[in-house]
Amino acid sequence: MKKKILVTETIPNSVRDMLEAEVSVKEWGNSKQMPREELLEMIGEFHGLLTSKDKIDQELLQAGTNLEVVSNISVGYDNMNVAAIKEAGILATHTPYVLDETVADLIFGLILSVARRIPELDQYVKQGKWTKAIDLPEFGHNVHSKKLGIIGMGRIGEKVARRASLGFNMEVSYYNRSRNQKVEQALGVTYQSYNNLLQDSDYILLMTPLTNETHHMINKEAFEKMKENCFFINASRGAVVDEKALITALEKKQIAGAGLDVFEQEPIERDNPLLTFSNVVTLPHIGSATAETREEMKKYAAKNILQALRGEKPDALIKELQ
Ligand code: DGY
Repeated sequence: MKKKILVTETIPNSVRDMLEAEVSVKEWGNSKQMPREELLEMIGEFHGLLTSKDKIDQELLQAGTNLEVVSNISVGYDNMNVAAIKEAGILATHTPYVLDETVADLIFGLILSVARRIPELDQYVKQGKWTKAIDLPEFGHNVHSKKLGIIGMGRIGEKVARRASLGFNMEVSYYNRSRNQKVEQALGVTYQSYNNLLQDSDYILLMTPLTNETHHMINKEAFEKMKENCFFINASRGAVVDEKALITALEKKQIAGAGLDVFEQEPIERDNPLLTFSNVVTLPHIGSATAETREEMKKYAAKNILQALRGEKPDALIKELQ
């Protein structure tokens, strides 16, 4: 008898065909998140779960008495309690590599949007405010030749560094737990201490994954160290930043603005003060959200779940289970 998997995301036909060739597939079939109670009620009958946002914790693992693998359609897996997964003795996978260039493109979009005030000035034109030649009140800031500091020099950080250095002639530095000699040599990127990077950069990009150690890593003290003309960009996870401290830094004009693809609460609440700043560009977590890349991610996640259910080692087993 075929093993059974539950899919709580929408999937294209190509992925459905791939899965159905080997397993029996039950789709939630809705772009809204599956209600937790329903998931807990159903999970017991499935061997695999293909997801991206569901919380994989002890409660779910206990309910998932037949569960052998959870396959995340994302590179980040902060929705998973890795210790509980280890204890349950099941596998967990994610989708690295296939989204790196796409997320790096988006990060450059955020940098340019916030520096050149693109969304704000788009509204200015559409609202009929462009009645004379624009002047100082509408001017933005240069991106090329400025200093970019990247916190978290992983695969995506590297792709951003390449765009910044070769495309925009930026002076790129980074802070990471370990040195990335490859990117230093290839692109002339320099390593800086955390504090120096905060104090020195014109643009700061946060790309650190969310873990217990990085939760609220960018806090009041960090914002106080940044330059007044610094733009802060976050495309990792909202909770790596203490959002209250970010709001205070913006209110006090301690930084020049922010470009945010991620938030502590997603979808963002309508009364979040971040939505009131004209110098903050907000996006609905679209780092990897292109039609091509999301399809690739779903294929990769499907491949991972099938490998696990065949008893093979999945290509993208999370590193804690390697
Ligand atoms: C991921 O895959 O973790 C990204 O945040 C999606 O945009």
